[in-house]
Amino acid sequence: MKAVYPGSFDPVTAGHLDIIERAAKVFDQLVVTVFANPSKEPLFDLEERMYMLREATRHIPNVEVDCSTGLLVPYVRRVGASVIVKGLRAMSDFDYEFRMALMNKKLDPDIETVFILTSSQYAYLSSSLIREVASFGGCVTGLVPEMVERRLKEKWPVGNRGQGEHGGNATGARGPNGPHGTGVV
Ligand code: PNS
Repeated sequence: MKAVYPGSFDPVTAGHLDIIERAAKVFDQLVVTVFANPSKEPLFDLEERMYMLREATRHIPNVEVDCSTGLLVPYVRRVGASVIVKGLRAMSDFDYEFRMALMNKKLDPDIETVFILTSSQYAYLSSSLIREVASFGGCVTGLVPEMVERRLKEKWPVGNRGQGEHGGNATGARGPNGPHGTGVV
């Protein structure tokens, strides 16, 4: 069975990788898809996010990395998958994920959303927190793949920290509460 794990992955974290590794054991094929969201200004562009995901998942043979834009459900059909994989960290994720899963079900009743609970050591982790901590020079070792850590340091060299990528805050255009009011992406 083929599944799609969609997300912004801006950037991929150890929490994402944990979900990918576990989902890859459950499904025959897993497509990790970076979704472009025109209403968000990402820190890393699509190519960078895909590159980092590819490098981080190189050791998992049944994982491929792709990107898309627009609605998720027709994309899932297009790639011949029938399952959407989502990671669930806390109750704060639940309301939004619940509504998305129901809407996706409405759009295509044949596609199932399967939730994988985060491992406890990553329950607090999100890309937006990583961006914020890295922008102020905080240590993110172990929370993101090494290559992501290096790229974060390149975005905010010493002396240019606390500025965010564009001179604003580190969370880009998402605002303090994130795109969906949860502040966790
Ligand atoms: O990592 P994120 O930002 O939580 O990922 C959100 C994502 C990409 C999974 C979600 O925004 C999405 O599914 N986007 C595709 C557009 C879509 O289908 N929207 C309707 C969902 S009900």
